[in-house]
Amino acid sequence: MLSLVFLCARRLVSDHGSLRRALPLIPEELYPVLFRASFLDKKTLVLQDLVQRWPFSVLSLQRLLQGDGGHHPIQLYVRANKLCVQSVILGVMAYLREQLAGQREGRLLRKQRLRLLDMTGTHDDGLELGPETMTLWSRTVTLAKSCIDMARSEETAQVSKRRKGAEEAAGSPVAGSSSLCVEVRLDLFVNSTSYGVLRDALLLGSHGPLRLQCRDIRAEELSLRSTVGLLELLNPAGLRQIDLRFNNLGLLGLNALLPYMTRFYHLQSLKLPYSNIDVRRLSPTAEEAMQNFSAHICQLPALKELNLGSSRLSGRLRQLLGDLQTPLESLELAFCYLLPADLHYLSRSIHVSSLKKLDLSGNNLSDVLLQPFLQLLDSASTSLLHLDVMECKLSDLALSALTPVLCRCRFLRYLGFFCNPVSGQSVRTLLRGSLHLPDLQLVIYPFPAECFLDTGVRPRTSNPILDSLINCDKAAQFEAEVQEALVRAQRTDMVWTAEIVSHRPPEYLSL
Ligand SMILES: *[C@@H]1O[C@H](CO)[C@@H](O)[C@H](O)[C@H]1NC(C)=O
Ligand SMILES: *[C@@H]1O[C@H](CO)[C@@H](O)[C@H](O)[C@H]1NC(C)=O
Ligand SMILES: *[C@@H]1O[C@H](CO)[C@@H](O)[C@H](O)[C@H]1NC(C)=O
Repeated sequence: MLSLVFLCARRLVSDHGSLRRALPLIPEELYPVLFRASFLDKKTLVLQDLVQRWPFSVLSLQRLLQGDGGHHPIQLYVRANKLCVQSVILGVMAYLREQLAGQREGRLLRKQRLRLLDMTGTHDDGLELGPETMTLWSRTVTLAKSCIDMARSEETAQVSKRRKGAEEAAGSPVAGSSSLCVEVRLDLFVNSTSYGVLRDALLLGSHGPLRLQCRDIRAEELSLRSTVGLLELLNPAGLRQIDLRFNNLGLLGLNALLPYMTRFYHLQSLKLPYSNIDVRRLSPTAEEAMQNFSAHICQLPALKELNLGSSRLSGRLRQLLGDLQTPLESLELAFCYLLPADLHYLSRSIHVSSLKKLDLSGNNLSDVLLQPFLQLLDSASTSLLHLDVMECKLSDLALSALTPVLCRCRFLRYLGFFCNPVSGQSVRTLLRGSLHLPDLQLVIYPFPAECFLDTGVRPRTSNPILDSLINCDKAAQFEAEVQEALVRAQRTDMVWTAEIVSHRPPEYLSL
């Protein structure tokens, strides 16, 4: 329900002209609600004015928009609205320009108010975004450009001031690069197209009035040299996650990169999927490189999450992770061609009792891996919150062995077992067993075997082509049955779905 204050705020922001005139009289404590109202109604001019006059030192989009304290929460797709996000940035730039101009002209302005614009946590690039929303990639570019803009115009202003100053009073102290700045905390997504602009922003911006402070960085298809170039420019203080994908670096490339990461003392999550590691037939040099990789990983002091998905690691997990002195809490090993020895190692490792998230998707768990997997799961059952076993070739037989162990994972919040060849009966049994897991929130289950058209083809991947193989009536019938079971058990707090596209499993860092 909308509060009376919120309704009034909506009314106020609907008329930009009068709000602008009234703004100097409006008490500080009303700014947040006016901000929310103008964001929701896309009153971009009002939004910009509010930000320009923001009375507090921090402006956190997430905190303002998520609707804490009983406020009306604003949907994610609205939070990423392109025009609104742009207006917030423009507002901050206008504020800085005004302050800087005042400072140069020696006018006494109020002391600096806004110091931090926190833009983290307001996008979810997993969900389909409409044309009105701003992707993380374009948000990165927009902020990088703004940062360069501010730095350049400030430089120009300083130079002309110095020139004027030299004419008036030779030898007067040069006004040092001003201390006035607003830090922007954000997540970055960069590829080779945006590399140049981001690099310039980090270089210029580090002394400019608008400074980028990266929390999570994701780079796709970026060369080794460019990746090093970016890592060198990032401020280590706030960096939490590095995600490098499709970069094709191989062990040698990764080994060249990892030493640049040791200065990120808060780095909790390192994702290196599709890195082109393949342990088959390693040359002696490559064996040494494996050893070095493992040694480098140990140098990351705060590491809690590691993703080595889509690398061929068969039989090498002990070698890779065995030297780590602090346990990992999240391991993503999808499509890694794991062997029983790998799972045996994991279930006896220091990591097992700390594991909150485990992703073994794409490993064939139906056969020789099943027993070691059950044992691993049993050992991890007191800590596990998140389990992904999509496309693991789990049969009815395997699932019936798995169900009791799963039901002992009493803190489990998420289970993904999409795309496994099981029958409806197995799914029902699992559903019944899981009703006693109090924290379980989301389960992505496979379409049962009965729902497939009898074409003799069985789906191997989570490809959309799969849809054409599904008997929609039967699938809908099964879905309805599942929902009914949840209602009967009074567990409608749980989501059980076969819709993989519209449901994103949570990230480890937000568990
Ligand atoms: C980088 O990502 C953007 C946004 O997704 C895309 O438009 C662009 O083509 C990408 N560049 C490359 C080289 O793939
Ligand atoms: C492994 O690390 C050692 C010591 O730093 C170094 O001398 C050697 O060249 C590295 N080997 C490979 C293949 O990376
Ligand atoms: C799974 O692996 C076993 C060998 O470990 C193999 O016999 C079986 O065919 C595989 N299953 C599938 C569906 O690929």
